[in-house]
Amino acid sequence: MDVYDNDVATQRHARGTAGNYSEEDHETWHKLCVRQSELVAPVACHAFKVGLPKLGLDFKRLPDREIMERRIYGLSGWRLADAQNEYLGPTEWFEHIAAKRFPVTDYIRRPHELDFTPLPDLFHEYFGHLAFFTDPAFGEIAQRYGTVYLQARTEAQQLAIARLWWFGIEFGFVREQGELKVIGAGLLSSPGELQHALRDETPKYAFDINRVAATPSAAYSYHDHYFILDSVQHWREIIDSYARQEGLAD
Ligand SMILES: [Fe+2]
Repeated sequence: MDVYDNDVATQRHARGTAGNYSEEDHETWHKLCVRQSELVAPVACHAFKVGLPKLGLDFKRLPDREIMERRIYGLSGWRLADAQNEYLGPTEWFEHIAAKRFPVTDYIRRPHELDFTPLPDLFHEYFGHLAFFTDPAFGEIAQRYGTVYLQARTEAQQLAIARLWWFGIEFGFVREQGELKVIGAGLLSSPGELQHALRDETPKYAFDINRVAATPSAAYSYHDHYFILDSVQHWREIIDSYARQEGLAD
């Protein structure tokens, strides 16, 4: 499940029957896991590579939310919230994040959407996001975005925080030992957008708070450009800087 810019975030879509999976659905999951784990192996950031084995996903069968929640809770203290196959509004989203709950859907994309799904599905969430939430230190950074968002006093502040989140945890790059690596779950889980983003001709800029805050997200298409973090800790410093700049520090 995802949070989008305000114009998109207020839309709510009912999406299929939760948890009632066909063999075709399991096959879609399997194909995505096999293909994507090969694609991301050379480009995924360190935190993803360390976290994915801890998750213990079964690449052949769709994950069970309760089992995965118990595993993640034991590792980092985070829980999984049931997003009930709908987009959450940004406030509802960040309320979950502030309370250390990551919202997930039960929806799995259709077989013809292997390369790209405009509706985030459970492959995006379990494969793309949850590896990071096996790490309590990463979870603490994510939670900080939730608490700062809830302190925001204006819509402009809320939108800026949602974009700092979006271009980091969803579509960000990070530098590791001089190499460009992928940290964004939206890239790690999307074969099509990952390859688009990795192209040399796709612009990638330093993660400047004001520039990112002024950049709309593209929920239904690939992004024109991306932003590069100096490190995972840099993503923490960004939300702290923004909170100080706007007088939202606790
Ligand atoms: Fe996401």
